[in-house]
Amino acid sequence: MTSYIMHTTMKYMTLIIILIGPQTILANDGKELHEMHCIECHSRMTGGDGHVVYTRDDRIAKNMRELQARVAHCSNGSSTTWSESEINKVTEYLNNQYYHY
Ligand code: HEC
Repeated sequence: MTSYIMHTTMKYMTLIIILIGPQTILANDGKELHEMHCIECHSRMTGGDGHVVYTRDDRIAKNMRELQARVAHCSNGSSTTWSESEINKVTEYLNNQYYHY
């Protein structure tokens, strides 16, 4: 019985993942992490829309490696203690959304 329930649950979860698409789940994850831990300080810093730090002309992160390093640096600074996989998700989100490297 338990195994039947497990099997059915797995089947629906697989279906949901196929329907939504794993990309969406990853992107939302990174977006959520970013909204929760990052944007407030950047907004305070710029006195408005914090996202402008990613699109300004003299932005710091010039390539994927620098972007990742900056995400890691800022997540340390804000003591979120992110794992490598969380750093990767947010790096990917920022790149898809703003940097396009
Ligand atoms: C306590 C404040 C603070 C927090 C919290 C913070 N940052 Fe930052 N962030 C900064 C400062 C300061 C800079 C550098 C701005 C400068 O030198 O002009 C920066 C710059 C950046 C840049 C580089 C922008 C560019 O110019 O290309 C990235 C990427 C970034 N932050 C990501 C993050 C991420 C991801 C988080 C969430 C974990 C985060 N930051 C949280 C203060 C913060």
